[in-house]
Amino acid sequence: LAAGDPAITEVQPWANQLGEGVDVAPYGMPSKYEAHVRRRDVPWLTADPVSSVNFTPLHELDGVITPNGLCFERHHGGTADIDPAKYRLMINGLVEKELVFTLQDLKRFPRQNRAYFLECAANSGMEWRGAQLNGCQFTHGMIHNVIYTGVSLRTILEQAGVKTNGKWVMPEGADASAMTRSIPIEKALDDCLVAFAMNGEALRPEQGYPVRLVVPGWEGNMWVKWLRRIEVGDMPWHHREETSKYTDLMANGKARRFTWEMDAKSVITNPSPQAPITHGKGHTIITGVAWSGRGTIKEVHVTTDGGRNWHQARIDGPSWDKSMHRFYYEFDWDGSPLLLQSRAVDSTGYVQPTKNELRAVRGENSIYHNNGIQTWHINEKGEAENVEIS
Ligand code: MTE
Ligand code: CO
Repeated sequence: LAAGDPAITEVQPWANQLGEGVDVAPYGMPSKYEAHVRRRDVPWLTADPVSSVNFTPLHELDGVITPNGLCFERHHGGTADIDPAKYRLMINGLVEKELVFTLQDLKRFPRQNRAYFLECAANSGMEWRGAQLNGCQFTHGMIHNVIYTGVSLRTILEQAGVKTNGKWVMPEGADASAMTRSIPIEKALDDCLVAFAMNGEALRPEQGYPVRLVVPGWEGNMWVKWLRRIEVGDMPWHHREETSKYTDLMANGKARRFTWEMDAKSVITNPSPQAPITHGKGHTIITGVAWSGRGTIKEVHVTTDGGRNWHQARIDGPSWDKSMHRFYYEFDWDGSPLLLQSRAVDSTGYVQPTKNELRAVRGENSIYHNNGIQTWHINEKGEAENVEIS
């Protein structure tokens, strides 16, 4: 920095007078200088905002936890406005005893705290046929990573007593879309949570207040918000969200179905189209996030030359099962154009594929489950653009 910089030599306005007292904001908000850090939608993507999506600003975040107010929202019938005093959760179907719980009832069972990512199966769906949206917020922002507090679904189901022919459960939402999905009983009894808190406070209305289902590692659509009912059955229900939606049409005209697990994926969040390199050449920090629905992330590799040379990135922060990981790769940028990519390897040994490897197996008809490697082109000015390389 230059000697005589007024930012250091002159007394600044904030030091000339007393600041605001406590309690000016009983529920605190970010600094006014951070007003650009916000969820954003893509208006042309959907016909109406009540059945739509907005996106997490991944390029503005660091670490692994998504702040509650920035978690992307996906609603099929708008946000339900539920009075917690009138909230009920019903368990019915193939159980010994049908039950109804109040919110207070749920909070009297033993609680668990777990961090999990939620990724919409449609995340990166607009990129199947080629690079389209200019920003990781839009290409990869249908994901959030939150620490949930809740009761294990197993505990709730054990209260009702699942009959021996109870092989599937169907959570149902209380919102206008009455979202329903079929979940196999093995998953329901394994790690699902009936959650009422996120990152330490009550769920936000947008995220399912007062109660949502958490289905770790599986596609976001199954994480029913505003959860009002869980039915136990002996076969899947084949509702709209698991037939016409959330299936993957292959090149041969057949569709993959019940593709619940989210494959390992990663993206470089900085630099990216909304977050160019502004400091010029020299020491440069590349950072991004990686996750897998099958476990932890073991390694992330970064390339600056479109995949000719791969370097091991440094994962820093918690490495939790089915939770987001943060990686960094530091290098000396000579100011010439770059083709940046990241590649995740998960704890099963699975390696994130290139987009072309994915298309070779899945064709180009899919919307869901695009976990292909993302490429950013960086020009001499440090500006980034969403591109594909063959
Ligand atoms: N649950 C209900 N009741 N209604 C919905 O519209 N959308 C689903 C799922 N659960 C939905 C729902 C979809 S497609 C996704 S990706 C996630 O909620 C999004 O969760 P979020 O809004 O917390 O990001
Ligand atoms: Co979704």
